[in-house]
Amino acid sequence: MSGGDKLDFEIRPNPAPVSAADRAALLANPGFGRIFTDHMVTIRYADGKGWYDARVEARAPIPMDPAAAVLHYAQEIFEGLKAYRTADGGVTMFRPEANAARFAASAQRMAMPALPPEAFVDSLHRLIEIDREWIPTDPDGSLYLRPFMFASEVFLGVRPANEYLYVAIASPVGSYFSGGVKPVSVWVSPDYTRAAPGGTGAAKCGGNYAASLVAQAEAIEHGCDQVVFLDAVERRFVDELGGMNVFFVYDDGTVVTPPLTGTILPGITRESVLMLAAEAGKRVEERPVSFADWQEDAASGRLREVFACGTAAVITPIGQVKFPDGEFLIGGGEPGRLTMALRQQLADIQRGNAPDPHGWVTRVL
Ligand code: PLP
Ligand code: COI
Repeated sequence: MSGGDKLDFEIRPNPAPVSAADRAALLANPGFGRIFTDHMVTIRYADGKGWYDARVEARAPIPMDPAAAVLHYAQEIFEGLKAYRTADGGVTMFRPEANAARFAASAQRMAMPALPPEAFVDSLHRLIEIDREWIPTDPDGSLYLRPFMFASEVFLGVRPANEYLYVAIASPVGSYFSGGVKPVSVWVSPDYTRAAPGGTGAAKCGGNYAASLVAQAEAIEHGCDQVVFLDAVERRFVDELGGMNVFFVYDDGTVVTPPLTGTILPGITRESVLMLAAEAGKRVEERPVSFADWQEDAASGRLREVFACGTAAVITPIGQVKFPDGEFLIGGGEPGRLTMALRQQLADIQRGNAPDPHGWVTRVL
């Protein structure tokens, strides 16, 4: 890259995009992460050369040498954010600079080069511009953006690679959980933990998710939608879910979420919810919540609502909790009032239907 952090993108439009009729059929019921747009962004990196060869091109398989470092040592990071259709036909992104900053922090933790935040955000603008017709118009729909980067160097020695590929793809999505916004159930994993102190829990790296899958599979076996991970040291305190942060709402209106100690992902939705709840006059606390207290407070009725939050989940009520010795309901299994109010407020900001005093929303088109 020459001069500043701005990259020039070469635009090579897909010569054979999906037809308008086929696209409309795909967008009628997109699900989550199953269909993709016509294009992708790629940027290469090599030690000594920096970032180069930035392109917007047809989405296509990526040729890879079997000795590419990522296939062996999993040096890979990713992000997830959404572009939204506004009522006036425009397009917004929610806090892309925050994802750019987290991507850089994840890169640092995984001994990877940091893509300049400006290039990260710019790459998403380019992708949205060229694939704008793929953004669902449905009020619950959005275009899920998945920027990621991996070690592409062909080398089997164990050290940070010196070549990387950054890619951004886009997927039109509806609700993450099938069935729309209804309370989900969670399984508290007795055996598996997600991240230990000093580990990679705060980084958004593929390895964290690989390590979570056996626990997620166990959750599904128990009829649950998501797994809850407890802390790896004492196995007492709630960390987060497989792909979402978690909040607790008490009868005195206090809103609590586990603190960022390095073992959980610093969710951008989490941070936004903390601010919105505080502005609504709630007492907000970032403090450890033990599973024992969760059970006890649910039984006494002191705990009124629990919800999951994240880009994919937005804000989703948790209605049922299962663990090896039993199960219990939250709020009778019904969605909580504050949960649904926060969900609506966040969605209204994201889609340009409400004022945006924090400057969270970027207008793309
Ligand atoms: N925790 C995990 C493990 C996640 O995968 C996600 C999703 O990105 C989150 C929390 C929520 O983060 P965000 O709100 O930035 O999407
Ligand atoms: C996201 O919310 O963006 C995630 O990465 C989590 C995953 C459940 C899709």
